[in-house]
Amino acid sequence: MEFIHCSMILLTVISLLFSHQLVALPPNGSPTPARALDSLLQDYAYQAFDRPHTGVPYDGIAPSNVSGIKIAVLRLRNGSFRNRGFRSYKEFEIPIGVIVQPYVRRLALVYHNLGNWSSVYYALPPGYSYLTPVIGFLAYNAENISSSNLPELDLWTSKLAIWIRFSTVKAVPNGMKARCVWFKLDGSLEFRNLVGSNLCLTCRQGHFSIVVNSSGLAPSPALSQGLSPEGGERDESVAWKIIGAVIGGIMGLILVAFFVALVATYRRKRKVEQMERDAEVAEALDMAQVGSARAPVAIGTRTRPVELEDEYVP
Ligand SMILES: *[C@@H]1O[C@H](CO)[C@@H](O)[C@H](O)[C@H]1NC(C)=O
Ligand SMILES: *[C@@H]1O[C@H](CO)[C@@H](O)[C@H](O)[C@H]1NC(C)=O
Ligand SMILES: *[C@@H]1O[C@H](CO)[C@@H](O)[C@H](O)[C@H]1NC(C)=O
Ligand SMILES: *[C@@H]1O[C@H](CO)[C@@H](O)[C@H](O)[C@H]1NC(C)=O
Ligand SMILES: *[C@@H]1O[C@H](CO)[C@@H](O)[C@H](O)[C@H]1NC(C)=O
Repeated sequence: MEFIHCSMILLTVISLLFSHQLVALPPNGSPTPARALDSLLQDYAYQAFDRPHTGVPYDGIAPSNVSGIKIAVLRLRNGSFRNRGFRSYKEFEIPIGVIVQPYVRRLALVYHNLGNWSSVYYALPPGYSYLTPVIGFLAYNAENISSSNLPELDLWTSKLAIWIRFSTVKAVPNGMKARCVWFKLDGSLEFRNLVGSNLCLTCRQGHFSIVVNSSGLAPSPALSQGLSPEGGERDESVAWKIIGAVIGGIMGLILVAFFVALVATYRRKRKVEQMERDAEVAEALDMAQVGSARAPVAIGTRTRPVELEDEYVP
């Protein structure tokens, strides 16, 4: 299970195919509350750096208006991070081979534990509830630790997955299946299978938790809103999309075929007309040459080869 596939291309393709924007983004420009919080927490986390040692996690202090959120920060050198990973940064175990782009000499991983603010900033689809607080980590340039308002760096693992080992998970209600949820930076979310009782895997940064669909067998109102909160329903909606695409494609083909047929008919008609005109001319010539005896001559010429073959059959 350590070798879950972290291939970039596959991930990109899959996320293109399956990513559903479950969280509506506000009109262009203004960040979502969750993204504004990321930015605020980056600023506060960097304040925990006071002549920081590379490779040592520091706990920060979140702003008082969001008390209950825990933050930490870890500064790393690009090269050593890539070659060694980071064994244990709070709940995260980061393997070797992590790629960070764009290139920076030093980066910082800012850790969030949203505690009792989890559902305030990360709303789940109807029917789901959290079994753990939402935790996350985001990578930033740490060449200048006085900076704020930094954009996240892009971070992904090339081979091994990042492990997220949740320390305390609420008991899973009877007969229900707990799953991992991953909130991406773009505001969409994705469900993944839980490994064991408390382990989630990821190949990218973001926010994570363990959730359960506690709506039992009641039909989900999410479906009527076009949301697809679970794998099965997502498959269903993908299936519908495929069916739609196939039907659309067939109708398109029929339309094209119809036009081709129309053009062909038109051209054939014109050709026939042309041939008729030519024939009329020829006929006029024939009649001028052989008078009314033209038809029997033509038939005789056409049937002769068959008769010749018959003569040579032993
Ligand atoms: C919390 O306070 C900070 C300033 O310390 C402010 O920028 C931020 O918008 C506030 N957040 C909320 C949710 O009130
Ligand atoms: C979370 O808990 C803290 C106290 O630990 C409290 O001040 C805060 O209002 C709580 N937040 C929410 C969203 O309930
Ligand atoms: C820094 O990381 C990049 C890839 O993100 C890598 O190509 C480069 O060799 C690394 N630099 C050092 C000094 O290790
Ligand atoms: C670091 O960033 C701060 C705030 O943006 C800026 O004032 C300072 O000059 C920067 N330091 C360097 C060495 O770039
Ligand atoms: C929760 O699970 C039940 C049974 O598996 C399913 O019927 C229901 O649609 C699910 N609800 C959501 C919101 O996914």
